[in-house]
Amino acid sequence: MKPVKVGLLGLGTVGTGVVRIVEGHQHDLMSQSGSPIEISKILVKDKSKARSIHVSEDKLTESAWDIIESPDVDVIVEVMGGIEQTKELMLAALDRGKHIVTANKDLMALHGPEILQKAAEKGCDVMYEASVAGGIPIIRTLIEGFSSDRITKIMGIVNGTTNYILTKMSQEGAAYDDVLKEAQQLGYAESDPTSDVEGFDAARKMTILATLGFHANIALSDVTAKGISKVSKEDIAYGKKLGYEVKLLGIAERQDEHISISVQPTMVKHSHPLAAVNGVFNAVYVYGEAVGETMFYGPGAGEMPTATSVVADLVAVVRNSNLGVNGRRGFVPYKEKKLKTDEQ
Ligand code: NDP
Ligand code: HSE
Repeated sequence: MKPVKVGLLGLGTVGTGVVRIVEGHQHDLMSQSGSPIEISKILVKDKSKARSIHVSEDKLTESAWDIIESPDVDVIVEVMGGIEQTKELMLAALDRGKHIVTANKDLMALHGPEILQKAAEKGCDVMYEASVAGGIPIIRTLIEGFSSDRITKIMGIVNGTTNYILTKMSQEGAAYDDVLKEAQQLGYAESDPTSDVEGFDAARKMTILATLGFHANIALSDVTAKGISKVSKEDIAYGKKLGYEVKLLGIAERQDEHISISVQPTMVKHSHPLAAVNGVFNAVYVYGEAVGETMFYGPGAGEMPTATSVVADLVAVVRNSNLGVNGRRGFVPYKEKKLKTDEQ
C-alpha cells in the first residue's frame, strides 16, 4: 500500500516526539488511518546540530521550500513555530493541495480564519489540536462533543510553563527565575518565554477556545492579558493562608451577544477543582446550557503529550483522505458572526 508522505517542519521538542510516535506506533497508526505514514522530509534550522533521536541525514533539509514544493509530500506537519513566515509557507502548501497539521497557536490565533478559509477553498484539512492544552483533546471536544449545546463559559489553565512555575513557588517556595529555567530545560516554554509569563500564550489559546466554543469570529485583541511575572512568593503564601491558590486563569464568558475574555493571575479557592491542577498539567472547564459543568484535564506541554495530539490530527487527515472527505468534514469552525466584546 502506498504510504502517505509527511513533510515535518521542525525537529525540536514537539517534532522529536512526532518522529518517535510515527516510528514507534506505525502499526496502530495504519490500522487507525488506513494507510502507512512515512515522514519523508524534515526541516531544521541547523543540520549539524546534535539530536536526541536518529534520523537519516538525507531526510533533513534547511530549506522549507524543498518540502512545500515537493510533489512527494502529501501532508505538512508544522512544529517549527513563528508567525508571518510560517503563514506564508502554510498558504503556499495549501495552494499546492497539501493538508496541514500544526501545533502553532500564535499562527492560528492571529491568522486562523484566513488559513482555514484557504483550506476550505482548496479542499484541504487544517488541524491544530496541539495548539491548545498540549495532550488534552479540547479542540475536537469543542467542535464535535459540544456541537449540540450552547456554551456560555470556558475557564482554563492553558499554559503549562506558568502553572509549573506557580506550583513550584507554592509547594516548594522555589524562586521564580530558577523554575522558569527548569521549565525551559524541560521543553515546556516557548522559544521566547515572555509569551508564557506575560500571559500572551494563554491569551492566544483562549482566542482559539472562545472562537470554537462561542462559534464567533474572535480576535486576539478581544482578550485582555496579564501574566505572572509580578506574582511573588509572598502573594502566593498569603493566598494560601486564606484558602486560595494563585493560578493563571483564562476566562471567556458569553451573555447573550456579549462576550468578555481575560487572562490573569487569579485566586482560586482550594475547594475548586482548578486549584488542584499542578505542575505542567492544564485543565479546561466548559459550561454548556444543556450539559452543565464539565472539565478536561491533562498534560499541557512537553514532547510526548503534545506529539500525541499532533499525530492524532495526522491520523485524522489520512483517514479523511482515504474516505475522500478532506476539507469537508472536521474543522472549519470560524464563522462570520461577531459578538460584542468589552471594548465595543
Ligand atoms: P523548538 O524550539 O524545540 O523546535 C523548533 C524546531 O523548528 C527546531 O527543530 C528548529 O530547528 C526548527 N526551526 C525553527 N525555526 C526554523 C526556521 N526558520 N527554519 C528551519 N527550521 C526552523 O520548538 P517546540 O518543539 O517546543 O515548539 C514547536 C511549536 O509547537 C511552536 O509553535 C510551539 O508553540 C508549539 N507547541 C509547543 C509545545 C511544547 O510543549 N514545546 C506544546 C504545544 C505547542 P533546529 O533544531 O535546527 O534548531
Ligand atoms: N509554552 C506552552 C506552555 C507550550 O507552556 O503551555 C504548550 O502550548
